[in-house]
Amino acid sequence: MKTLLRLLIVPAMLAAALGAQGQSSGFEKLDEWVEAWKEGQSTYFGYPANQQSSMRDFYQWYLSSGMESVNLNNAGDPMTDTPWPMSSQAFERDVIEYFAPLYGFALDDVWGIVTHSGTDGNNHGIYFGVNYLRNRTGLEPIVYVSDEAHYSNLRLAHLQNLEVRLIKSDLMGRMIPEELEKALDTGRPALIIYAMGSTFKGAIDDMPALNALLARHPEIPGIYRHVDAALFGGYLPFTRYRDMVSRTAVGYESIAISGHKFFGIDSPSGLFFCTREIYDNQSDFNVTYLNSNMRMISCSRDAVQPLKFWWLIKKVGAEGWARQAEQMMDCADYLKRRLDAIGWPAWKNEFSNTVFFKRPSPEIVARYTLAQGHDDRFGGDLAHVVVMQQVTREKIDGFIDALLADGDDD
Ligand SMILES: Cc1ncc(COP(=O)(O)O)c(C=O)c1O
Repeated sequence: MKTLLRLLIVPAMLAAALGAQGQSSGFEKLDEWVEAWKEGQSTYFGYPANQQSSMRDFYQWYLSSGMESVNLNNAGDPMTDTPWPMSSQAFERDVIEYFAPLYGFALDDVWGIVTHSGTDGNNHGIYFGVNYLRNRTGLEPIVYVSDEAHYSNLRLAHLQNLEVRLIKSDLMGRMIPEELEKALDTGRPALIIYAMGSTFKGAIDDMPALNALLARHPEIPGIYRHVDAALFGGYLPFTRYRDMVSRTAVGYESIAISGHKFFGIDSPSGLFFCTREIYDNQSDFNVTYLNSNMRMISCSRDAVQPLKFWWLIKKVGAEGWARQAEQMMDCADYLKRRLDAIGWPAWKNEFSNTVFFKRPSPEIVARYTLAQGHDDRFGGDLAHVVVMQQVTREKIDGFIDALLADGDDD
């Protein structure tokens, strides 16, 4: 009887708690998970995810149009003139053509796809870079990447069985040009990965300085520069610092950006762009059964994520993203000022929405889902907040109060 009551009452209570917007799934475990998730969402400070995704009307349209009952697959190249009929490739191409100019790619000199994630974009950058350099020089390239760059780059280079040279970064997390110069093997092609927003410190490698260094070595048989701009590549194009991420302004061959970080896609996705020269110098994979030249790594590719991107371009667009970027950067400065004011050791790179600081107690780390790091040069244990759309001034005030109360408890 007790169990029966529980089965009837708990879902009803949860359904009520889910409120006007929510609807019980009829499964207690799922409803409890939704509740817990919503509670945690307001203090989700440590990771670069936009928790204010505006996909509600997309899902409503998707259901009402009946698209939830069909199987879509973007296998193949969205940039050809014959999109795969069972796909959303026509929309994927629109997405690529909308974003390409924001990264300084001319529409007649770009190839791109909507990826499964920032990591997937980095995988394409590294794979395309290696193929391009091998095809052009007949030599094996070396990968150079900073020790503060996202771990996916190292993992992917290992996966592709490449020689990697890890370059030391400075105190604030930028690759040190002199260290790159020391490590360069000028007899082999160089595949350089630039971090555009290192994961923990939010550092941007000084691409103009590093490019100038590479230009002083014309003897290097070939150079390919991939930019890992998973988070910063989302918001920088919508700020006055847009040139920092523009290929025409800084010079690079490919770039990867995550879709679920700044843009607000509600699950992993991303963007990858490279020049036509890079695309044209890949090994051919003519796949007869797909009637396609398959340059991309995955065969089946998600067809719904491009639709979500397309939807957000229409619904949020450049104006909305510019407003969000401004608020994030303003709040990141605000958080740094408030930490300084209470004497809590904190650091922030220019152009970054990431503030790192002395690590607070495990309770605060858990309550605010803070990401943790360690650097003896900054006194040891650290944590960071990535100021995304949901991290408002009001919430920052609450966080500072929590830090002060936590300090009082010591
Ligand atoms: C700089 C950087 N690159 C790559 C990634 C991986 O991106 P994704 O999680 O979209 O695979 C991250 C994730 O946080 C990142 O911070």
